[in-house]
Amino acid sequence: MSKIDVLRRQLDPSLLVEDPQALLRYTHDWSGDYVGRAGLVVRPRNTKEVADVVRICADQALALVPQGGHTGLVGGATPSPSGEEIVISLERLNKVRDVDRTNYSMTVEAGCVLADIQEAALAEDRFFPLALGAQGSCQIGGNIATNAGGLNVLRYGMMRDLVLGVEVVLADGSILNGLHGLRKNNMGVDLKHLFLGSEGTLGIVTAAVLKLFPRPTQTVTAFLAVDNVEAAMDIYSRARSELSDLLSAFELLPRSGVELALETVVGLRDPLSSPSPYYVLLEAAASGRANLSQMTESFLEELVSTGTIADGTVAANQAQSRSFWRIREAMVEGQVRYGRHLRTDISVPISLIPRFIEEADILIAKRAPDAIPLRYGHVGDGNIHYNVLPPRNLQDTEVQSYLDMCEETIFEVVDRFGGSLSAEHGIGISKQEAFLARTSENHLNLLLGIKSIFDPAQILSPGRLVR
Ligand code: FAD
Ligand code: LAC
Ligand code: ZN
Repeated sequence: MSKIDVLRRQLDPSLLVEDPQALLRYTHDWSGDYVGRAGLVVRPRNTKEVADVVRICADQALALVPQGGHTGLVGGATPSPSGEEIVISLERLNKVRDVDRTNYSMTVEAGCVLADIQEAALAEDRFFPLALGAQGSCQIGGNIATNAGGLNVLRYGMMRDLVLGVEVVLADGSILNGLHGLRKNNMGVDLKHLFLGSEGTLGIVTAAVLKLFPRPTQTVTAFLAVDNVEAAMDIYSRARSELSDLLSAFELLPRSGVELALETVVGLRDPLSSPSPYYVLLEAAASGRANLSQMTESFLEELVSTGTIADGTVAANQAQSRSFWRIREAMVEGQVRYGRHLRTDISVPISLIPRFIEEADILIAKRAPDAIPLRYGHVGDGNIHYNVLPPRNLQDTEVQSYLDMCEETIFEVVDRFGGSLSAEHGIGISKQEAFLARTSENHLNLLLGIKSIFDPAQILSPGRLVR
């Protein structure tokens, strides 16, 4: 009997996904770039069942890949094509266990969908600030494992900054219970941080205590036309202080991205009457007594009078604000519809963004003159998605090497600026080679040492992140 059959026989059949059609979402990722084969897909219902599955896998030396919403963009959650890896989906661990209004915290299971967590917090007049395009599908366990970023990082931080405690099933099937809601806990090294960004390689997150914030009762969303990236970054620098640190999102959008969005989603409208090379989509939010609309109005008036913005509009209501954000989301959908393309999520110091984009543009134009670059994203965090759509006339067989060359070119510029080749999506398998090439020997030895302590038999997501 195969090892997988041994596992199958020991599990309640209701935990298994067997239907070939139902299996597809576990073997094919959101982007369509990663396709694998699962030895078995297991969907435990609680922490104990997760621990039981891991224990059997450990006994059988079977490799396990934890999976949340399968929206990760670096191939980390997709089983390998070998058909030997077990996918352990956390989707049934989807209860909000508790919301503590006074402690500004909530305890959730790992398979809770991010949008459901946001809703549950709002229902208690509290706010969970992590927000990203995939929020209707991604799960908090996946957000923790990837240390997700998204739209509100500049004010609230990344996932790492939003977690008070975690519960984790370790590679031997034991449970590490760190589910506390303490804001101050200085009892030595805080192990929870090892799981943030560990991409399923050190343990399986089963629950977490999250930090909550006051629910914003006033929100201003503005869509501003700027001539260039310098102007955008000048607005960023001023907005942070002039809006009393109430700025919560600051996105850069290029004209080509807005056009792609308008072509992709029927019914979307250009918020402004004439085109501009770049746009800023910014949001400020406040709770309590601050007069946010007055503050932003006078700030935006000043931007107009000093000629910093050519044009701009402020959402008159929530629906209009949604439609601005829909443009931002549709840019991502448009790229998927275009077909295979290069996604990057690099970061450089915020002040260097204009020069970074300029230098990357020059080098890409030199090495890949037909490429269609799209530079957009969370510039308020120094994070740019410098993506590349390949020219249409490229043969299918040439696309991958073309995109690899573009990626290496962009990373070369990132290196010059002392930046990071992954600011938010992580390493997985797609960025592994570039990551390892830039990781010093002592850094790598420490990472491998940590891996060997947490997972000596290398059963958790083998081959991802480090190898
Ligand atoms: P999965 O894709 O299922 O898994 C991701 C990784 O985490 C894998 O390595 C997996 O093994 C591991 N994992 C999953 N669950 C667990 C668990 N419970 N315990 C241990 N390991 C686990 N990311 C950003 O950071 N910012 C963005 O703005 C952003 N926007 C996006 C927009 C779109 C349209 C899409 C499709 C993706 C976007 N992403 C973004 C990427 C992605 O949504 C995030 O990485 C997200 O955190 C992944 O969550 P998931 O539940 O889908 O995880
Ligand atoms: C975004 C994702 C892809 O910001 O990170 O659109
Ligand atoms: Zn992003």
